[in-house]
Amino acid sequence: MEPLAFPLVQTFMNLAPQTPLELDQTQIDKSQLDKSHGSVRAMFSGIAGRYDFLNHLLSANQDKRWRRRAIQLLAPQKGNRVLDLCCGTGDLAIECARQQPQCRVVGADFALPMLHIALQKSPAKIPFLAGDALHLPFADATFEASIVAFGARNFEDTERGLREMQRVTTSGGKVLVLEFMRPTSPLLRHGFGVFFKHILPLIGKIVSRHQQAYNYLPASVDGFYSRREFEILMRKAGLRDVRSWNMSGGIATIFIARKTN
Ligand SMILES: C[S@@+](CC[C@H](N)C(=O)[O-])C[C@H]1O[C@@H](n2cnc3c(N)ncnc32)[C@H](O)[C@@H]1O
Repeated sequence: MEPLAFPLVQTFMNLAPQTPLELDQTQIDKSQLDKSHGSVRAMFSGIAGRYDFLNHLLSANQDKRWRRRAIQLLAPQKGNRVLDLCCGTGDLAIECARQQPQCRVVGADFALPMLHIALQKSPAKIPFLAGDALHLPFADATFEASIVAFGARNFEDTERGLREMQRVTTSGGKVLVLEFMRPTSPLLRHGFGVFFKHILPLIGKIVSRHQQAYNYLPASVDGFYSRREFEILMRKAGLRDVRSWNMSGGIATIFIARKTN
């Protein structure tokens, strides 16, 4: 890959010390959700070592298929600069570089332990940088595509996150969001709800020894936007040509929109 020449304003942010989690470990009530910068960062830092294993286990490897489909729909072109926000352990960025080796992809996340794993895993020379999605350290119109998988739900202010993605995207460029949603069919919603709220937190707790994170997951999905609401939010954030695709009965949804101005 060519060396990157992004106009980085700041590659490593002065990240404040991580604060301990304040979530009551027994709660999955969404009113208890703490999406503050420090809490979310501490939570993902705490589960980094087990994140990939649990992701693949708990989704029966469907997460790989969803990321693969997302990049197929994005269809990055040769020479495109792509920002993977909330890149975590790097799977979406790596998939993007795998499908289009001639694009220049960069990952950003504020949880350093997740980034360390991304750096170890990445087969290509993908730069993984520390950065906050709500205050991106990139100039306007730097990337032909800004993408995020399972990150938007954690933003303290979702619209602001989308506006930041829009800001750093070139005119005519694409913004892609892959996110968990509540399944559409009542039957699937019920069955999935039992798994998501009871079985997943239990397995997550045993494997990661971090109960909050796997209580937070179902609660954050429960308290998040529906597919239609999220499409409206993308338009409100200034994006156009919003399209979406349900994955696995609506357990996850891929959104792609364009920046037109
Ligand atoms: C559920 S993980 C998703 C990781 C990866 N994108 C994937 O597909 O598996 C969410 C990630 O978003 C990061 N994150 C959440 N809010 C963020 C923010 N405001 N700025 C940067 N990273 C953030 C977390 O640190 C975590 O690594």
